[in-house]
Amino acid sequence: MKKTGIFLATALTASITAGGAALSGWNEGGGEQDEATKILLTFKGKTAEEKKKIRADGVAVYEVCSACHLPEGWGTKDGTFPQLAGQSAAVIIKQLSDIRAKNRDNPTMYPFALPKEIKNAAPEVGGGPYAIAVVAEYISKIPMNPEPGVGEGNDLEHGAKLYKENCVRCHGDNGEGHKEKYFPRIQGQHYKYLLRQFEWIRDGKRRNANPDMIKQINGFSNKDMKAVIDYVSRQKPPKADVAETKDWLNPDFD
Ligand code: HEC
Ligand code: HEC
Repeated sequence: MKKTGIFLATALTASITAGGAALSGWNEGGGEQDEATKILLTFKGKTAEEKKKIRADGVAVYEVCSACHLPEGWGTKDGTFPQLAGQSAAVIIKQLSDIRAKNRDNPTMYPFALPKEIKNAAPEVGGGPYAIAVVAEYISKIPMNPEPGVGEGNDLEHGAKLYKENCVRCHGDNGEGHKEKYFPRIQGQHYKYLLRQFEWIRDGKRRNANPDMIKQINGFSNKDMKAVIDYVSRQKPPKADVAETKDWLNPDFD
């Protein structure tokens, strides 16, 4: 936690300058993503004792992430750091693998998330696919921020209509995403983070974006974009996935 201030300052400039490269494949899979996904699928069948170990390994890896994404995994309202808490493990695995393969620009995070760095930070876990699987599993179970950043709230009807017509088929009725696939949960995410990603996807700057989503949102004006993202940021995740109060602190990082 103490280190957060320094990271925030350098991250701000770096994350704004990210993006800009040409489009490449969306979900080619292979490599780390497939290996980590295979490992993730084995977790369900583990004994209680083994699950405890998996969780402890997840905490050990997550420690380095918590400097930016915060111990609660809630990110920041200004959108610099996304909320990770409650995101599906499959999505975390895909995004992290893409970032590590430099298929999604994130210069701020590279120095902390590449295999060598994770291995240094959590030597008992190693820096490979197992580390990705355990941290993804851990993150997916952290309770979400009950008060994410939202937009101005002045165009929500338009936003709701746009959402129904353009987003439901992939992100679900309320932005819950698809747990087992690579369609992210976007409900309850910070408005400013969502807005940046949406704009980068629309304008071809996020290299790992889904080509069908790019087609779908091709005609969106900035006004449409703000309206639909404001609507999404206000969609409520199921109660069970959300922390009881905004003052919740993650006991794993006391
Ligand atoms: C130095 C700060 C920093 C650290 C440390 C960091 N991240 Fe990030 N992370 C970021 C930033 C900034 C973004 C958003 C980049 C963007 O806007 O595209 C991000 C984005 C992500 C995303 C994509 C989220 C989404 O909704 O698509 C994932 C997943 C992620 N980080 C996981 C991790 C994990 C796991 C760790 C620890 C191993 C970690 N991060 C460590 C700064 C950091
Ligand atoms: C054809 C399916 C599809 C449609 C339609 C679609 N999306 Fe997406 N969206 C995706 C996928 C897949 C990703 C993740 C891409 C990746 O792997 O990086 C994504 C990513 C996003 C992200 C970035 C999330 C993050 O955490 O970084 C936002 C924001 C988003 N979509 C919003 C929308 C909105 C709003 C609409 C409707 C206007 C929409 N999408 C329509 C499939 C779709």
